[in-house]
Amino acid sequence: MHILVVGAGRGLGLHLAAEALKRGHKVAASCRTMTADLTDLKTEYGESLLTVKLDLREEGSIARAVVEIQDKLGYLNSIINNAGVLLGRNDSIRGIQLSDLEESFAVNLFGPMLIMKHCDSLLAKDQPGVVVNVSSESALDMGPRDFPYSLTKHALNAFSQKLQSHYAGTAVKVYAVHPGWMKTDMGGPNAPLDPRVSAERILNIVEGKTIPNSVFVESL
Ligand SMILES: NC(=O)c1ccc[n+]([C@@H]2O[C@H](COP(=O)([O-])OP(=O)(O)OC[C@H]3O[C@@H](n4cnc5c(N)ncnc54)[C@H](OP(=O)(O)O)[C@@H]3O)[C@@H](O)[C@H]2O)c1
Repeated sequence: MHILVVGAGRGLGLHLAAEALKRGHKVAASCRTMTADLTDLKTEYGESLLTVKLDLREEGSIARAVVEIQDKLGYLNSIINNAGVLLGRNDSIRGIQLSDLEESFAVNLFGPMLIMKHCDSLLAKDQPGVVVNVSSESALDMGPRDFPYSLTKHALNAFSQKLQSHYAGTAVKVYAVHPGWMKTDMGGPNAPLDPRVSAERILNIVEGKTIPNSVFVESL
């Protein structure tokens, strides 16, 4: 398969790229700046890994990266919209910052939407493929805090459902997946899950080894 992993420089995205390469797929891995870990993967896997730079807050950078992917890979089978930010988690409604809302929506919702806008023509519709939007159980948290993150993931789930309708009648499936609470920069050191395990489980969905019975996958 040809798989795009968005936000692959660190955290879950890095493990998704590594696991996909280990399983023999060709991977386009996006990052804002090249990281030592991605460079190591490039050294290990060579031509099987294409690294592209993009910042989800800038549509031009997404468009340029997708042209590069088209030139080098030709088509995509699966896309994992993994990049995300967690901002203003503990702010109550009185404390919310417009800048946190703007960045959260730009990265967590508009980013995946723009990725799909620019990648739609590259996605092979007649071969089994999967779009995974990495969501969160916070999408369902209707508590009094965590406004930016929770609302963006709630909207990402709705976007996933609309995207599923867009691909109805094709071989492409769409899922919004909660990856679990993972030990990453975002999840922190107390998280119980190794992101490698989440990456393996998400790749099983991408490869069709695990077939979720709903667009929303609330636990892996
Ligand atoms: N960790 C958890 O426990 C947990 C739980 C539920 C859901 N999730 C979800 O899982 C996904 C991965 O989380 P993680 O724990 O791996 O987070 P992380 O370690 O904080 O990594 C976040 C990733 O998003 C990228 N990113 C941030 N802003 C970006 C932008 N403007 N443009 C492009 N990329 C950008 C980062 O790139 P840079 O290195 O350039 O900043 C990085 O690759 C996220 O969608 C998150 O919401 C995580």
